[in-house]
Formats: sequence, structure tokens, C-alpha cells
Amino acid sequence: MSSPSFHIETFGCQMNERDSEIMAHLLARAGYPPAASREEAGIFVVNTCHIRDHASQKALSMLGRLRDWREAAPGRVLVFSGCVAEAEGRALLSRFPQADLVIGPAHLAELPALVAGVLDGAPPAAVVGTSDARGVPEAPTVAEGIRARIKITEGCDHGCTYCVVPAVRGRERHRDFNEIIGEARRFAGSGVPEVQLLGQAVNSYGKDAGPDRDFPALLRALAGPGMPRRIRFTSSHPRFAGAALFEAMKAGANICPHLHLPVQSGSDVMLRRMARGHSSAAYLAAVESARRLVPGLVVTTDFIVGFPGETDGDFAATLDLVRAAGFEGAYTFKYSARPRTPAAGFPGQVPADVMGKRLAELNALVDSQGRRFNESLVGSEAEALVEGPDADGRFWQGRLASNRLVFFGRGDAETGQLRMVRITAAGTWTLSGELAGKKEAVPA
Ligand code: 5AD
Ligand code: SF4
Repeated sequence: MSSPSFHIETFGCQMNERDSEIMAHLLARAGYPPAASREEAGIFVVNTCHIRDHASQKALSMLGRLRDWREAAPGRVLVFSGCVAEAEGRALLSRFPQADLVIGPAHLAELPALVAGVLDGAPPAAVVGTSDARGVPEAPTVAEGIRARIKITEGCDHGCTYCVVPAVRGRERHRDFNEIIGEARRFAGSGVPEVQLLGQAVNSYGKDAGPDRDFPALLRALAGPGMPRRIRFTSSHPRFAGAALFEAMKAGANICPHLHLPVQSGSDVMLRRMARGHSSAAYLAAVESARRLVPGLVVTTDFIVGFPGETDGDFAATLDLVRAAGFEGAYTFKYSARPRTPAAGFPGQVPADVMGKRLAELNALVDSQGRRFNESLVGSEAEALVEGPDADGRFWQGRLASNRLVFFGRGDAETGQLRMVRITAAGTWTLSGELAGKKEAVPA
């Protein structure tokens, strides 16, 4: 009998997207082919996110709906993986009898054996726990397309008081320096133009390994010959964002001048209660230094509004920080109390309507800055990595080094090329342009 095919549905961050790629690779290597559609799949993996209540609820409701899929044909295997799987563990098996396997992020490598077990008649199982997690779950995947991801760290040791990540992904682990270099070189050799380095606090990579093996050293090594034409990294932590990092970004012609540096709040009182390990002044000093050192740098961030105890004055400090740092973009979130995090028990939980108002005000300011930056680009030329047709197929789209999307008429552009584009119009978050010049931009 032929092996069942698999389908993976992914929620959450880029770490989760990478985990899904790894699971796909591991299943394919074990002889299970990818399914043509989710209906046809014999193995269904839901890879879930626990960061906010809304994300968790979405994953759980999908699991609920998959009961029909699971029962529509005999021998189907339903796998619940990722951060909700880790957080809820065994309890999911009794709540959702349709689930065959519950697998936490630290146990990805066990997926093929567990699936084989279920197909052989083993009972449902929950494989979770991060206390014995070693190394970074990775797999040497074959990159297709224009962008490859490399997880360089896994887990997080920072202990921000609002955050579930340390609980679901465990202590911070770092991948071997030379392995990362080798993988990036292999991707470049197979023609992948862009590599993204991923980690919860990606720039804490090698924090105890000395200046020859830390994150700036990694960037310097990745800027050498034979490396991908573009390197990006996300997300950075302010505590490890210093001159050495910015010097490495400046020196590496292939290192994209984009710094995603989550700050969460502009109020020092909130930052202390969040246990962020930095003040708003230290954060601003880092952004100023980064902008001074890295030409054309774009700085984006994350904010949480309505953290417990946040007053109008604290929120005003957040708006001040947005202006002072000159963010070109930000992801903004309402605080969501998460189980087993310290902040869930803090006094002064902020009412939903207050949070909503603050979020709208913050978004309006962030949007106006994003648009102003985009307008400043109109008339200039910038290098875009051609991604292919846009969602409705009318234009083609490319990504600038700053991570902005630009739409243009295809002309003679091919997916994967780096092409110069003249920017002709600005939206809030995207740009319009036209191809400038016939040839591909000179490789970095
Ligand atoms: N509530 C709201 N937003 C959160 N984030 C992390 N935890 C929470 C929470 N409990 C946001 C932070 C982080 C981003 C990935 O998600 O801004 O940087
Ligand atoms: Fe969601 Fe955090 Fe898990 Fe990513 S690491 S999937 S953001 S809970």
C-alpha cells in the first residue's frame, strides 16, 4: 500500500513557518508525499501559535473542525503541533478525541516515527516538554524559490513577563557557527538569492561565545564571497543591538539595512514591569547609533498596548517614542493575558475599550510615519528582489532591501532577479514603481 500524503497548516511566526518546512522535509524523507490538497491528505498537521489568546483560539477551532476530516476516511492521522500543542499537552487528547498526536516544538524530529506508530495502530500520544530540549530542531532542507530560512537560535531566556515563548519553546539554544555558514553557502550555490536568519532574539546568537563567534561575527562571515546576495534577520533584541552589530550591517554589502527591533512600550515603568532589560533612552540611543552607522537603515518594531497598569501617561510615552525613533513601520498588538505568565496576575488589567482606543491612535501615528517614509522614496531607484506576480496577477511584486513591497509592470523581469525599480507612487505600506534599466542589478 502506498504511504499516505500529508498537508500542513501553519499559524504564527516565521519560526513556526520554518518548523513547518522542517516537518514537511522530515515527512517527505520518511516516504510520505505532499498532498495535492488538504481534502486528499491522509496526514494533517496543524502547526499552532499561542502568542495571543486569539491565535490559540483559531488553532483550537481548526482542530475542532477537523473532526469531520478525520472521520471521513479510515486511517487518517491528525497531528496537532507547535506552541498550543506544547502549552496544552495531554489535555488536548481528551478534549479532542480526533487528535492522534500532540507534538511540542522541541520534538519535531520525532514526527515521522510517531506518525508511523499511529499508522501501525499505536494509541494517541502527547509528546511535549522542553526541559530536555537540546540543540535547535533543524533539517538541511532543499531550498526552492527565492527565499530560504535558517533558524539560528531556538527558545528564549529573556523572560518578558507577558510572553509564553520561553514556556513553549524552552531555554535558548544556538546552532553551530560553521553549520550555519555551510548552509548559507549551499543555498547561495543552488541559486537562492535571499536567506533569512531566524530566532526569537536572533542577535543574542553566540552571546557567550566571544567576539569571533557572536552574531556580528556571523553576519561578517555571511557577507563573504560565495554567500547569498541578500541576508536578513529577525527579530532582534535591544539588549544585543550595539555598535558591533551595526558595524557588521554596514560592512556587509549583502546584509539588508533593515532592523526589526521590538520595543513593546515607550514607558520606562512599563518596560520595567515587562522585564525588558532596557530603558526607552537606551533603546533610542541604539536606534540613533544604528541610523548613524548604517546608510539607508529602516527600523521597524513591535508594540503591546494596554499592558497591566498602563496609564494615559505611559501610553503618551509610547507615542513619543514612535516619533523620536522615527519608525518606518510597526506591528501593534493589544495585550493578551497568557496562562502561566507573570503579567497575567498583575494588577491594573486595562479594559478592552481603552486598549482599542489606544491601538487605533498608535496605528494612526505608525501609518502616517510609514506613508511619509514611502513618499520620501518616490522618484528614487532601489533594488528589488523579484518575487513574481502579485495576488491578483495584474502586477509583479518585488521586495526592497528595506523589506518594503513594490508593485511594477513585469516587463522582462524574472522571479529571483534583483532589478532596479524606479519608485513612482507611495501607499501606506507598499510602493508602486517601474523597472529601471534592462539588466539585473550587479551582484553584491
Ligand atoms: N499580548 C500581546 N502581544 C504579545 N506579544 C508577545 N506576547 C504578547 C501578549 N501576551 C507581541 C510582542 C512580540 C510579538 C511577537 O508579539 O509585541 O514582540
Ligand atoms: Fe506563536 Fe511565539 Fe510560538 Fe511563534 S514562537 S508560533 S509567535 S507562540
